[in-house]
Amino acid sequence: MRMHAYGDAGVLRLDEVRAPVPRDGEVLVRVAGTSFNPSEIGLRNGWLRGVFDVSLPYTVGWDLAGTVVGTGEPVVARVDGGAAAGLVAVEAGRLVRAPGGVPLAHAAALPVAGLTAWQAVFEHARVAAGMSVLVNGAGGGIGGFAVQLARHAGAVVTATASPRSEAVVRALGAHEVHDYRLGLPPGPFDVVVNLVPLETPTDLVRHVRPAGTVVSVTTPVAVPPGSDVRSVHFVMRDDTAHLASLVALVDAGVVRLDIAAQRPLADLPAVHRDAEAGLLRGKTVLTP
Ligand SMILES: NC(=O)c1ccc[n+]([C@@H]2O[C@H](COP(=O)([O-])OP(=O)(O)OC[C@H]3O[C@@H](n4cnc5c(N)ncnc54)[C@H](OP(=O)(O)O)[C@@H]3O)[C@@H](O)[C@H]2O)c1
Repeated sequence: MRMHAYGDAGVLRLDEVRAPVPRDGEVLVRVAGTSFNPSEIGLRNGWLRGVFDVSLPYTVGWDLAGTVVGTGEPVVARVDGGAAAGLVAVEAGRLVRAPGGVPLAHAAALPVAGLTAWQAVFEHARVAAGMSVLVNGAGGGIGGFAVQLARHAGAVVTATASPRSEAVVRALGAHEVHDYRLGLPPGPFDVVVNLVPLETPTDLVRHVRPAGTVVSVTTPVAVPPGSDVRSVHFVMRDDTAHLASLVALVDAGVVRLDIAAQRPLADLPAVHRDAEAGLLRGKTVLTP
């Protein structure tokens, strides 16, 4: 599934191309699934140009679940594009054993969303037992993992979700769920994990207790003068140790994969349109 130009979802096309040839240190992986990430829309319509440049045509797909050609080993990885395909060449060092007990294609939900949640909750927010945590945007791909990881850390978790996601977000471990259309719960919370683009980001600081932490993966949150709230904005990175820890939690039944839909790879343009219309929740997995 290649992006041929910057523009609307029509720039994505399913093409017949030669199989990639692994270079030194790479292996060939037969793709079982990839997953949709909304940042792909930013890439597609050109918003990320200058920050994240690719050469066209570009094979999309940052999340990989599949089997190593030759050994059959089931693996997951965060890759730099190319997973929205039948075969992809990947540096061997980026591969992590896939979780058992879930369909291999579903494991493609894990890398980008799981790593972002892991790094938000543990690395940047330093969530620990007894803390109060607000996950803003818990119905989305990252949010489902953030709720589960914060709960696993022993936090008291409040989440925002609309009615379509409320039951799932509760089932994933949120103690309380607030409909974001009615505004944010006042708190103040020890930690706010923000997963939603914000028009007035500084307003979020009111929901954080003094010396608490706000972590945003979308809009940076500027802290007003005189406030001692710690504000972190970050971009996720590939970290195989974090991914292996997530896999272990899936294996242990602690973390569940919130797969809202599984669709054929050829549906990717339609998935983009659905995402732009606000119709997606949880994770959407695509299979070649
Ligand atoms: N910094 C990084 O490294 C990084 C990495 C990955 C992604 N991101 C960004 O992080 C954001 C979240 O990614 P994602 O994959 O989790 O997105 P996603 O799965 O597309 O999120 C969709 C969810 O957003 C929820 N939502 C929409 N408007 C909301 C609002 N006003 N308040 C609360 N929730 C709202 C909806 O919840 P309901 O179902 O409850 O309506 C929906 O389920 C995106 O903007 C993405 O580009 C950043």
